[in-house]
Amino acid sequence: MLKEHFKLISGTANRKLSEGVANLLKVPLTPVEIKRFHDGEIYCRVLESVRGCDVFIIQPTSPDASLNLMELLILIDALKRSSPDKITAVIPYYGYCRQDKKTKPREPITAKLVANMITIAGADRVIMFDVHVAQVQGFFDIPSDNLDVIPLFADYIADKKLKDIVIVSPDAGGASRARSFAKVLNAPIAIIDKRRPEQNVAAVENVIGNVKGRTAFIVDDIIDTAGSITEAASILLKFGAKEVYALATHGVFSSPAVDRLNKSQIKEVVVTDTIDIPKEKRASKLKLISIVPLLSETVKRTHEGLPMGVVYEEMYRKIEKKIK
Ligand code: R5P
Repeated sequence: MLKEHFKLISGTANRKLSEGVANLLKVPLTPVEIKRFHDGEIYCRVLESVRGCDVFIIQPTSPDASLNLMELLILIDALKRSSPDKITAVIPYYGYCRQDKKTKPREPITAKLVANMITIAGADRVIMFDVHVAQVQGFFDIPSDNLDVIPLFADYIADKKLKDIVIVSPDAGGASRARSFAKVLNAPIAIIDKRRPEQNVAAVENVIGNVKGRTAFIVDDIIDTAGSITEAASILLKFGAKEVYALATHGVFSSPAVDRLNKSQIKEVVVTDTIDIPKEKRASKLKLISIVPLLSETVKRTHEGLPMGVVYEEMYRKIEKKIK
């Protein structure tokens, strides 16, 4: 049962997701006024008292990444100056997290910069979903939860009741994600040998592992321009995969993603609703899996000081039963 001083606030990036959580938790969204000045500056005001409250703001930094990030920071600032007990920034999609290290001299590490900005703005805690690499959690000097959607996707795969499957990582960096999926589904893994000659360009030449005659499920954190996933699908089919499905937590879908996905031989593209996907970005083979139940439970348990481990264990138990 949610206590009286619990407040849920939505930014403008994914109102549908916030409304879903509010409905499931049977709480109203705290009203906020968010508008733009003529020069583009963002104005936010919380329209009711949050004094002494445990406040959760849901705002993914989805496209437009910088604008939505700025709105999140300003919302946190508006709250910080209104004496709440605690502010939790719920960032279902944490943009800028892909720049997590220097790969060339004189590059920034924006994943750290943005973590600093969120902390300095006044967040006491962050909740994120499937950040690009898990160590990004350590960029925050406040408690941070990085939730994965493996049980949601694994359940979707288990429901297909297919025999010879293989879980594929589209690059070496995603190997541990693929391994986690494979463990739940009791399946082998394969890894695509991907290089990035330049940003947003994916070049693949080889597959490590056996995909011949198997249904391949590529699992990734993000589909941005869809270069990685469509290149991966082509090479998997070239190496003898029977069919290819693509699953990614965050559907960023920057141009030309939709065109690439529609033209690809991928059977289904599955993403979650961490990002609100407008109609024009919905490829014909797109399937959506909602994080609303998982996010609602996370918010509720965070508020009540309860662990999430048991929730994941229960989800895994159900999948285990299905694949037996
Ligand atoms: C890269 O390391 C990520 O995990 C994704 O594979 C990548 O960001 C997807 O980008 P795109 O869809 O533009 O290839």
